[in-house]
Amino acid sequence: MAYGFFITFEGGEGAGKSTQINRLAENLRADGYEVITTREPGGSPGAEAIRHVLLSGAAESMGTHMEALLFAAARSDHVEQVIRPAIAAGKVVLCDRFMDSSRVYQGVTGRIDDGLMAALERVTVNGMQPHLTFILDIDPEEGLRRAAARRATSDTPDRFEKETVDLHRQRREAFLKIAADEPERCIVIDASRSADEIADTIYRVVRAGLRAVRPLDERRDIRRSGA
Ligand code: TYD
Repeated sequence: MAYGFFITFEGGEGAGKSTQINRLAENLRADGYEVITTREPGGSPGAEAIRHVLLSGAAESMGTHMEALLFAAARSDHVEQVIRPAIAAGKVVLCDRFMDSSRVYQGVTGRIDDGLMAALERVTVNGMQPHLTFILDIDPEEGLRRAAARRATSDTPDRFEKETVDLHRQRREAFLKIAADEPERCIVIDASRSADEIADTIYRVVRAGLRAVRPLDERRDIRRSGA
């Protein structure tokens, strides 16, 4: 049975996640892997509709708990409609933000209690843990400068971009703590380096991961089907 590989990219604003996802997708496709790129909130039609509600600020008045439920609903749809079928078909899935964003934005800076966050994560991820997570780490002031430069050529700040540097610092620390707590899944990348250097590092790590983890998953699948 085919079994794919699930990679998530996390970090603050302006860390360069989408550039790196595109670079990695190109590299892996050149190696012959089937790759899909996706993002959260969103990634499936139902989740994209919820994304609009969240990022437009329409849900802000409902409070942080209800926002956390909306992020969770979007994630559940995305996992079941897009990610799980792609992994079952043997594809490599590259996702811009996933469960760690909820842990950080809703759990830490949104101050939702750990018990509720853990319960939401359990039902939304539903076993679909990433094999690898890259945490693109950047000084928040630099990240915000980059995000502002990007916005000058695109749209207006979204709900989550209108926040203080202090909040961004807390999120940076929270992402680094997740990485320290789960070193087998998470790799911290210094996102102040050039895009080329970062892309090379990520590609090397992923190639090693594909070699190391895929056979383990295949063995697990064989055991399951033989049980
Ligand atoms: P987006 O425009 O995709 O921003 P970015 O380029 O920073 O990824 O906006 C997504 C915003 O939603 C971002 O500010 C982080 C926030 N978010 C959460 O609060 N919780 C979540 O679970 C996810 C996936 C995103």
